[in-house]
Amino acid sequence: MRWHVVESYEEMSRKAAAFFIEALQENPRLVLGLATGSTPVGTYQELIRAFREGKISFQQAFAVNLDEYAGLPPDHPQSYAYFMESELFAHVDMPSHHRHIPKGLAPDLDEECRRYEEVIADLGGVDVQLLGIGVNGHIGFNEPGTPFDARTHVVELTSSTRQANARFFDSLEEVPTHAITMGLGTIREARHILLLASGPSKREAIQALRKGEPDPQWPATCLWLHDHVDVMVDREAYGE
Ligand code: F6R
Repeated sequence: MRWHVVESYEEMSRKAAAFFIEALQENPRLVLGLATGSTPVGTYQELIRAFREGKISFQQAFAVNLDEYAGLPPDHPQSYAYFMESELFAHVDMPSHHRHIPKGLAPDLDEECRRYEEVIADLGGVDVQLLGIGVNGHIGFNEPGTPFDARTHVVELTSSTRQANARFFDSLEEVPTHAITMGLGTIREARHILLLASGPSKREAIQALRKGEPDPQWPATCLWLHDHVDVMVDREAYGE
């Protein structure tokens, strides 16, 4: 695991985007594993800028997102499909049939999880997976206690995650109770992983990651079982 401690959110976003820009320039058919949440927004803005400046194209690239709320349609402003559209896809040239997000409205969610695993396999796996980290150490929606070999599955969200995400909804009651997420085993199959963390609220989770031991109570620590992980954190998240 390689650690990059940066001074600010902006620097983290620039460096994360530079990583993707180089990867896309080397391999225009890159399969990008993408995340939602506040952490990657700056990275997406930098990628949009690079696209507008003609440095990269997403025409031949593919995207698979980590997760989606169950029960929200793709045009719901809090769905992750909507987030990806407004924060990245609407501004770049990736064909719509190259973009994949679990379908939160699928009639059979378990079947949707199986289908999603097949989508990833058919693409030949994820080349670079971008991750944020929850205050409880979750990645995707893999909450503490998730087995490290879990595949894409349906999760019941913990109250801590629902409360953390309630800021985006009118009330806590409106936050969905379930979601579909790539499992920790699925995530760990990405060839390269880039985890970003910014701000003091992530410090405890980053401290747990810095211990260097896989601990199921801190799901992100499963990344110690992977050989190609870069962690980019600002000083506030890194601590002393
Ligand atoms: C988002 C995701 C989550 C977030 C995490 C951090 O697709 O899978 O694991 O990365 O909850 O969220 P932010 O970035 O909003 O702090």
